[in-house]
Amino acid sequence: MNLKIAVLAGDGIGPEIMKQGVAVLNEVADKFNHKFTYTEALCGAHAIDAVGDPFPEDTFNVCMDADAVLFAAVGDPKFDNNPSAKVRPEQGLLAMRKKLGLFANVRPVATFECLLHKSPLKDELLKGADFVVIRELTGGMYFGEKYQDNDKAYDTDIYTRPEIERILKVAFDTAMKRNKHLTVVDKANVLASSRLWRLIAKEMETSYPEVNTDYMFIDNASMRVLTEPTFFDVIVTENTFGDILTDETSCITGSMGLQPSASLGEHTPLFEPVHGSWPQATGKNIANPIAQILSAAMLLEHFGLNTEGQLIRKAVNASLDANVRTPEIQVENGNTYGTTEVGKWIADYIKNN
Ligand code: IPM
Ligand code: MN
Repeated sequence: MNLKIAVLAGDGIGPEIMKQGVAVLNEVADKFNHKFTYTEALCGAHAIDAVGDPFPEDTFNVCMDADAVLFAAVGDPKFDNNPSAKVRPEQGLLAMRKKLGLFANVRPVATFECLLHKSPLKDELLKGADFVVIRELTGGMYFGEKYQDNDKAYDTDIYTRPEIERILKVAFDTAMKRNKHLTVVDKANVLASSRLWRLIAKEMETSYPEVNTDYMFIDNASMRVLTEPTFFDVIVTENTFGDILTDETSCITGSMGLQPSASLGEHTPLFEPVHGSWPQATGKNIANPIAQILSAAMLLEHFGLNTEGQLIRKAVNASLDANVRTPEIQVENGNTYGTTEVGKWIADYIKNN
């Protein structure tokens, strides 16, 4: 298969982990006779520094022209610590989501047997936890009308029927391909927008009689993902709730550095780690490349390259089992490996297996 991949490495640890993601893709291409071509483009703080825009038009065009986008992370403390900054790297991320129509953010949550102890939760609660959170990504408070003066401020949590229907369709369809259990997470006891979500979900339930659909308030769901993570199969929720819930669910896996995601929608699909740019680790060769590498696996699986995706997953598992791990997940007194070494080990495994 020929795939044109837009490569957006971004800021902080982004370029380091991206290098490993691309190396793994190249190994897969060699082994299975695929042709992947890459076009790099600027985004985030790097793009602000270079051209004054965190998601420049050129980058948008590169993304639109590609079959898929492999994205790493954006963000730089020099903007966080400057309340009067006019443009911020994160605006580039939001512009990218909006302009590429990436309304469905798919964030799988799974455990690795050998890393159960890395989670702050008890092993027996975690065993077998395997679910996916589908977060709406281009609506709600993130994009609704905003206002701020010195005495008053608001963000509008707005959703329209077509926006809700299309994300719920992704959720129901995902549930059909998995264990046919969908949990719609909302705050329908308080929020009008949530009540519309629930109304539409109930209408759509009749088209998916095989899916066991239930409804849960976000406050309850935040507790339940930690007390009984095995209850869940597919969760669907609006943008802000999904943002918060998926940082929370990342502690089920044991490290943010292990969590990939896909953002799907109207134009080119995008694949990225759930974690951010971790500026403090930049250049230290300590960031875990696995979230980026698994994002590359999700990219391949999106195009039906399931054997290839599976081989990447097998290689990642093998690296963990062999204790070839970055510091945050290494066993006590074990040798730690760098970003480059872990990536190389995984790429070599793919070559040799
Ligand atoms: C995420 C991030 C972003 C979000 C930030 C960086 C704008 O936290 O992808 O979860 O809030 O969506
Ligand atoms: Mn987030």
